[in-house]
Amino acid sequence: MAILEKHKFLETNATALLVASLLVVTVGGIVEIAPLFYLENTIEKVEGVRPYTPLELTGRDIYIREGCYVCHSQMIRPMRDEVERYGHYSLAAESMYDHPFQWGSKRTGPDLARVGGRYSNEWHVDHLTDPQSVVPESVMPKYGFLLDRLIEPEHIADRLSTDALVGVPYTEDMIGQAQADFAAQADPDADTAGLQERYGSSAFAGGKDVVVSNFDGHAGVSEMDALIAYLQVLGTMVDFSTFENDPNR
Ligand code: HEC
Repeated sequence: MAILEKHKFLETNATALLVASLLVVTVGGIVEIAPLFYLENTIEKVEGVRPYTPLELTGRDIYIREGCYVCHSQMIRPMRDEVERYGHYSLAAESMYDHPFQWGSKRTGPDLARVGGRYSNEWHVDHLTDPQSVVPESVMPKYGFLLDRLIEPEHIADRLSTDALVGVPYTEDMIGQAQADFAAQADPDADTAGLQERYGSSAFAGGKDVVVSNFDGHAGVSEMDALIAYLQVLGTMVDFSTFENDPNR
């Protein structure tokens, strides 16, 4: 009873109520915010997550330039309908090297966070060139012009350095070999030992080999090659059959 009496004082005295509320909110706020200043990183590292290769990073820049994010999100929420449709929900670590991240919220088309490996490279070429030829009711625009735009990767080392500035762990070696790695990933006949050593399973514990392919099936490295290399790596870095914090197992 006594405590109710004391509370009555607060509830009938506007100034006291205001002061008491401010006090409670301040303490609560400090408890939530203060620890963040002492943590170096709030993202838990997950095995297999690696920085994008030069070709994938270029594809990602094309994805952003073309505004694919206007219709596609890249975050699977931990809800049953999403997980059943798209696969394991997205982990924070999976976008830790994304600057800027592509989570989004607009879904005119499906979420793309785990589209990697779901379709063949040929399917992507057909679909990007003429979406309606594969999905007749699609409202997705045509991006066939990407096939004709060949890339000279003269600025790719600077591009990697820029991401390194904001914390992506690109090494001197990765930056120095960026042009060579860019070309090697799109050429199945190339010597890819260096590329795999820098980005593949040998470099990252629990990682997978980088997918090397002539993605668009044409000579030269086109914007189509880069974009498909990027799409094919989306959501494939973490091996969810061995992922330990998985509550679904
Ligand atoms: C105007 C909205 C719009 C834009 C812009 C757009 N898309 Fe789509 N996209 C869609 C729709 C709708 C679908 C579903 C029908 C289909 O497969 O074409 C789709 C499907 C896809 C799929 C197949 C996904 C799956 O799981 O079946 C991929 C991959 C894709 N888009 C990639 C892209 C890329 C890459 C870009 C940018 C170059 C892009 N989209 C731009 C609307 C869009």
